[in-house]
Amino acid sequence: MTWYARITGWGKYVPGRVLTNFDLEKIVDTSDEWIRTRTGIRERRIAAPGETCCSMSVAAAQKALEVARLNPTDLELIIVATSSPDYLVPSVASMVQDRLGARGTPAFSLVAGCTGWVYALVTASQFIQTGAYRNALVIGTEHLSVGVDWTDRTTCVLFGDGSGAVVLEASEQPTGLMAFDLGSDGSDYDALIFPGCGGVHPPSHEVIDQRLHYLRMDGHRVFKFATRVMADSVAKVVTASGLTIDDIALIIPHQANDRIIELARRRLGVPPEKIMVNIDRYGNTSAASIPLAFVEAIEEGRIKPGDRVVFVGFGAGLTWASAVFHWEPQEPTAIAVADWPIRERLAQPIARARTALWSARVSLATRIEPLLLPLYAFAGSYKKRRKKK
Ligand code: ACO
Repeated sequence: MTWYARITGWGKYVPGRVLTNFDLEKIVDTSDEWIRTRTGIRERRIAAPGETCCSMSVAAAQKALEVARLNPTDLELIIVATSSPDYLVPSVASMVQDRLGARGTPAFSLVAGCTGWVYALVTASQFIQTGAYRNALVIGTEHLSVGVDWTDRTTCVLFGDGSGAVVLEASEQPTGLMAFDLGSDGSDYDALIFPGCGGVHPPSHEVIDQRLHYLRMDGHRVFKFATRVMADSVAKVVTASGLTIDDIALIIPHQANDRIIELARRRLGVPPEKIMVNIDRYGNTSAASIPLAFVEAIEEGRIKPGDRVVFVGFGAGLTWASAVFHWEPQEPTAIAVADWPIRERLAQPIARARTALWSARVSLATRIEPLLLPLYAFAGSYKKRRKKK
């Protein structure tokens, strides 16, 4: 028996407290203009005292369970992706399991930086596809406002808090997860890191004095990595799914920087309306950013049953991940299901050739474009000089 992992419930939670770029101007030496033009962020949500990774996860999960019409007691697996848990031990997933009233349900947390939720989604899907579990709750959540250094303008302007959750259920019909691509390059582990309070720098006065307990990021290194892997991973996963990029209704990328998203979009050759962007309102919510964007895309009616969507993330590790999902929130009817594989089969030879061409073009752009960047800069300054004359 082949099982498929279908998304049947979704929910999000963001704290009520809004921190705008103008508010940040009063905290660090920055400006609304700098933040907007460099990142696309206008505001972000900040957890109130008492709001935590666990409470935000529970709020998002309850909504997802309501949509899926599932009782917490029916849950068979809970995975929470986060890099800013309430405690190092125990895992926030166990606390969420208890607060939901999902007695005895296996629960664990997963750390893969901003990529975490896609890793968790793919992991949960494996349990369902093997027939081990009939459903799973997959949460992406972050409480990063307690992990950033509010005196460091290079990081504190970027991040926000929030939570997004989905329920996966087993289906006998071919739907749900179609393909995935997971990756990691640990040689750049220190490009995005909480250096203090782990085994290398255990808690000490020195760690606190040197502010090693806060997030440190080499923005340039992460930017270069992200622009390379995002387009490459999408090209790879779309090819693996047997679809063409034209078959994809919406790409839902990790919301770290709108310039990174725009570069990837151009390399993939897709129109702006096929990319979900909500970074302006929430900033970078790390593992929560893709599920938050996904839930908003549903709420805004940007995806409809039968659509194929791509999730793509990158982050600490450094890691990356993408997945193609057939979005069928209601169990597909027998007629639609019968139609699905035939349609795919007929279109396959042409699709394969078109995808191979497109994939080669994306991969070429990913490699050639960075080499051309100095030329663009030179052409820009040459134009400016001519204008002045
Ligand atoms: N306000 C004003 N000026 C600033 C600020 C700020 N908030 N931050 C930096 N600057 C200054 C710098 O000091 C620098 O000044 P200088 O030229 O006098 O030295 C100047 O602005 C330019 O700084 P850059 O670092 O070159 O700016 P850049 O255009 O690279 O943008 C940014 C920085 C936004 C951080 C970018 O590198 C980026 O987005 N990188 C990717 C980050 C990312 O995606 N991280 C999340 C990964 S996911 C996860 O797992 C959490």
